[in-house]
Amino acid sequence: MKAIIGKDIKYAASLLTEGKLVAIPTETVYGLAANALDPDAVAKIFLAKNRPTFDPLIVHVASIESMNELVTKIPQKAYDLLEKFSPGPLTVLLPKSDKICDLVTAASPLVGLRIPSHPMTLELLKNLTFPLAAPSANPFGYISPTEAQHVYDQLGDKISYILDGNRSQVGVESTIIGFEEDIPTIYRFGGISQESIESVIGKVSSLTTSTSNPKAPGLLKSHYAPKKTVILGNLEKLIQRYNSDDVAVLSLSSHFNNVKHQYILSEKGCLIEAAHNLFAALRELDTLNIKYILAELVPDQGLGKAINDRLIRASTKD
Ligand code: TXA
Ligand code: MG
Repeated sequence: MKAIIGKDIKYAASLLTEGKLVAIPTETVYGLAANALDPDAVAKIFLAKNRPTFDPLIVHVASIESMNELVTKIPQKAYDLLEKFSPGPLTVLLPKSDKICDLVTAASPLVGLRIPSHPMTLELLKNLTFPLAAPSANPFGYISPTEAQHVYDQLGDKISYILDGNRSQVGVESTIIGFEEDIPTIYRFGGISQESIESVIGKVSSLTTSTSNPKAPGLLKSHYAPKKTVILGNLEKLIQRYNSDDVAVLSLSSHFNNVKHQYILSEKGCLIEAAHNLFAALRELDTLNIKYILAELVPDQGLGKAINDRLIRASTKD
């Protein structure tokens, strides 16, 4: 059976209420959703994605009020960030209440919560009596989907319905932040920049490239990875080193002559536009008959930190 792609929010709600999986649009990437309060439904997510159960899931809700029963406490800094950036690409790690089962958090006492900023998914959440656990809707380790068709291509035979909300606006996943220490920690760079966060709550630290960090077991070094080998560096030098038949070039804004395949993330060098295009670009280049994707890091500021994080993980093979 193949999934149906459609825009029927009521139908999506009825499937989720029956304990089934539905792919949902968000402003970051598409999610693979199930009733977060039903362990049998949540287990189906891990199976469909081939995802290890040590990798916890983010829980999606419609409002800050609906977070109350899922957590035991909302620290002031978390509250301030939620007020400022929700709905939006921000995930807060908070101490979970008994309503959240261990499968969702991979046995961590913290649960990741966010309010997605997509009108269809917000309406869906308002139609439901439970929150939605949803990882990105891709096979474990592969690039996240930013279009309904991406979900269909890879998970179309594992789910029955994909709610189509057009292309994801932001294009990279949510920023994940925890409040266990006085200085909060960013565990994953994403759609809300570190600078924006610091403008609200002051200094934060970041901890985003470890494989062994128990607070964020899902942040494996190799992730968001296409099947082709991604090589990062100075593009001009890399282009000279490889046979042009073998490569596709992914640049922020530069054009290169003498290359057959190139994808420019943003002609203007705009990091917001580049983030929006990044995953679709990697997917497209991954389908070409080439061996290597040559790519460059972008300025390490604003959404550039999220872009660089994804490029580095895409280029790591272990
Ligand atoms: O933008 C997003 O966050 C998207 C959309 C669908 O909402 N979701 C997403 O989920 O990117 P996923 O599962 O692909 O990545 C979530 C990551 C996990 O790999 C894990 O590292 C971290 O979030 N995470 C989730 N819950 C956590 C928890 N309780 N403690 C630590 N890390 C957690
Ligand atoms: Mg993911």
